[in-house]
Amino acid sequence: MQKIENCQEIQALALAQRRAGKSIALVPTMGFLHDGHLELMRQARKLADLVIVSIFVNPIQFGPNEDLDRYPRDLEGDLKKCEAVGVDLVFTPTPQSLYPDFFQTAVTVTEITKGLCGAGRPSHFQGVTTVVSKLFNLTLPDTAFFGEKDFQQLAVIRRMVTDLNFPIKIIGVPIVREKDGLAMSSRNAYLPGKERQEAAAIFAALSQAGSLYREGCRESEKLCQIVLEQLEEKIKSPFRVEYIKLCETLNLTEINGLVKQPAVLLIAVHLAGTRLIDNLQL
Ligand code: PAJ
Repeated sequence: MQKIENCQEIQALALAQRRAGKSIALVPTMGFLHDGHLELMRQARKLADLVIVSIFVNPIQFGPNEDLDRYPRDLEGDLKKCEAVGVDLVFTPTPQSLYPDFFQTAVTVTEITKGLCGAGRPSHFQGVTTVVSKLFNLTLPDTAFFGEKDFQQLAVIRRMVTDLNFPIKIIGVPIVREKDGLAMSSRNAYLPGKERQEAAAIFAALSQAGSLYREGCRESEKLCQIVLEQLEEKIKSPFRVEYIKLCETLNLTEINGLVKQPAVLLIAVHLAGTRLIDNLQL
């Protein structure tokens, strides 16, 4: 497995590989890798000649009061995990190399970024689409893999790729969960023992709404309400719900009233100073 830090070097390598007829898959990450990330890499491995993983804690997608400084990092451990799943190349740029002095360009997806996570994190998705565009230009992938855990992010990337005609196929990978149902996330490492246990209530609550839906309930308010009730019943530590929303799967428009189309229930909760997101497709 090769590790490259330099932007020109990886772009030259990617270009040479594409010219030699090899297919490239990209898995963008911010590191501190867990089995969710590794699942993306396993899927990529099945599909492409060359699997590139990027590890970069992207400063421009963090708000001023967010966890950029304390975001967990373990490059050595990450490299071992990448090697074990058969990754060919890990790209680890520095912030200065991706955002040199006078950097002043951004990619903005205007509508689908406004609600849900975008409402509480105003510049977040612009940071994501800008860095992902750069990573696409640097690694020239045929396919790029993103997790459904960040459901809105996946929808935003799909929109961007369609709108800007990137010749890249975006592949969404289902959420990988811990044994108790908690969606795997690098940020789970922040949770102290008690809150970590209580965090399992998030998926349990979504699942309750899923059961209600299967029993025939189509009222958006009721489906969201049961999630809130379940959280209040099961989480004893202080927590704050940022949003619980039922949205159309394709464009993430909020559904009020009756559910008539494919829908996804999305949630963001703050527990022990940690922001946790999850979702369930109904
Ligand atoms: P990060 O949070 O490191 O996640 C990298 C990728 O792994 C994302 O596509 C995310 O959806 C996926 N992922 C994370 N946890 C998952 C889980 N439990 N199951 C399935 N997939 C999971 O998302 C980012 O980094 C950044 O915003 C990035 C796209 C790299 C741009 O900086």
